[in-house]
Amino acid sequence: MTDNILDTGAIKCNVNAKDSGFAKRLGLVATGILGGSLVALYAVAGPFVAPALRKVCLPFVPATSTQVENVLKVLQERSGSLVDIGSGDGRIVIAAAKKGFRAVGFELNPWLVWYSRYRAWREGVHNSTSFQISDLWKVSFAQYSNVVIFGVPQMMDQLEEKLQTELQSTAKVVACRFPFPTWSPDGTTGEGIDTVWVYDAKSFKQTKTAGTCCNFTNPTAVTGDTSIS
Ligand SMILES: C[S@@+](CC[C@H](N)C(=O)[O-])C[C@H]1O[C@@H](n2cnc3c(N)ncnc32)[C@H](O)[C@@H]1O
Repeated sequence: MTDNILDTGAIKCNVNAKDSGFAKRLGLVATGILGGSLVALYAVAGPFVAPALRKVCLPFVPATSTQVENVLKVLQERSGSLVDIGSGDGRIVIAAAKKGFRAVGFELNPWLVWYSRYRAWREGVHNSTSFQISDLWKVSFAQYSNVVIFGVPQMMDQLEEKLQTELQSTAKVVACRFPFPTWSPDGTTGEGIDTVWVYDAKSFKQTKTAGTCCNFTNPTAVTGDTSIS
């Protein structure tokens, strides 16, 4: 009888030991899943949140389809190379490539760049598009004859100086939603949030006063190949 009781106790004890081992493993698995999920969430969401933490906050807000149409409308007489500064999900670059431009996007968020490349491939324009993971302040846009920017007001004066220094006088610049502060536009189209302004580099380069700017470029910091494959 006593033996039985002890036996039963031993079994109970064993069962408890098994339970606690199982609970420990379960705890580890749960911690792993939670930790992994947090890391994955950080990896995915981080690049979308990061622009908000920079000195100039330029979040991902995609152009509306009317805005894209307006960009193409003001550039309809143009051809050659086009760059979208902060290219988001690639919609402007892809639409421009469909109109015959060799189009390049520079974008800080790697997820958006990978998605843009996938979209370009899916829409059959991967040969005339290129997407680079780059900081817009660290690349030179000198080689582009058409430049598109959907920025925020806080960055437009600094970008104005940068483009004024870098671009050839044959270039055109299109600003979406927010105009440049001191340049006079060549034309404008659309209304409200879909308004775009087009600027002729010949005009704005004439007004550039010598020795006033610029500290930004470190064109050697361009990451990756900027040519279109
Ligand atoms: C307002 S969205 C415009 C997206 C796209 N051009 C369009 O019109 O649909 C601005 C984009 O610039 C990107 N961006 C923010 N800071 C940047 C930086 N320093 N260099 C490159 N891209 C940047 C953001 O991630 C975002 O995708």
